[in-house]
Amino acid sequence: MALKNRKTLFTTLSKDSAQQLDTLASKTGKPKTRVLDEAVETLYKQKEVEDMEQQHPQGTAITIATNKGGAGKTTSTAAIADILAKKGNRILLIDADPQGNLSKRFGFAPNAFPENYLGELIQDRMDHRDAHRDISYYINPSEGYSNIDIIVSNLRLDGDYSAMNAESIKGTTVFRTIIEDVRALDVYDYILIDTRPSLNNEVGAVLVASDYVMIPVEPTEDAIFGADATIKFMATCRRMNPALKLLGIFMTKVYNRTKSFQEAAPVIRDSWESSVFKTIIPRSQDVDNAGNEGKPVTTMFPNKKITKKYEQLVEEAVNRIHA
Ligand SMILES: Nc1ncnc2c1ncn2[C@@H]1O[C@H](COP(=O)(O)OP(=O)(O)OP(=O)(O)O)[C@@H](O)[C@H]1O
Ligand SMILES: [Mg+2]
Repeated sequence: MALKNRKTLFTTLSKDSAQQLDTLASKTGKPKTRVLDEAVETLYKQKEVEDMEQQHPQGTAITIATNKGGAGKTTSTAAIADILAKKGNRILLIDADPQGNLSKRFGFAPNAFPENYLGELIQDRMDHRDAHRDISYYINPSEGYSNIDIIVSNLRLDGDYSAMNAESIKGTTVFRTIIEDVRALDVYDYILIDTRPSLNNEVGAVLVASDYVMIPVEPTEDAIFGADATIKFMATCRRMNPALKLLGIFMTKVYNRTKSFQEAAPVIRDSWESSVFKTIIPRSQDVDNAGNEGKPVTTMFPNKKITKKYEQLVEEAVNRIHA
């Protein structure tokens, strides 16, 4: 790539850069113009790589967590995955909740007994298996979504978690190993992890391996305590994973006219200020209807208000990641 206006560039070079250029030219025996062209080309290439990395950050790991049960973690994980995938991202879901609700949304019935579910992967990476399998063995294509894959859960996962909790160092770092293996595949833009309603070692191990946390909060007193406890728990996990960030708290299952919303929403905004996403996910019967069909609500009802709201939430979240 030859520069068109080298002359301008030469005159604007700082004294140090001009000297460096002289030295390089005399060392390599190349004309100064060539040295300059090559330097600019290298910079362009670096920029291209940086731009690509910006678009494909090799699996940004986002965990949806709160110890409040029924807060909308699974519903939101499924919706966010669906929307990110529709935007052309490659998604890996990890269903880290033995209830297996996320797996169900993507075509894996909880009463099935897959050999390659998350618990087997945990046991494998904790060296409890004779032969280690490649991470790809544990990744399933999801039913009906070409760019969403999933590591599924199963009720048996509780037993595997017990084994994990019995080994402090390996247990705490096993999800980190799993995420590293996934990233080495260099396939996924986002890794989304759905967790159980708890702040125990298992969720801790997931947070130790995550880049970001999103916390759903229903505007009720109990749910606010849940979000508060989750943020405190994140502070503990940061001792092992200082890069862990709160991507944001979002209000969900909101019915505007209720007294509890009118009272709780200002408390949420005052407590967590700019961490609270602007988008509010409404309470909608569509969620249950989609759940009964075993589908994410955004897939089942692409034109409904709740889907538009999840789209806005995803836009806010992605903007925060790239800010
Ligand atoms: N926006 C919504 N409007 C109405 N109902 C909702 C909404 N979001 C979730 N629900 C319902 O609330 C219940 C709990 O939702 P979900 O399973 O997503 O929560 P969760 O936090 O994953 O629960 P758990 O803590 O058991 O894992 C489900 O019956 C779901 O259909
Ligand atoms: Mg759930």
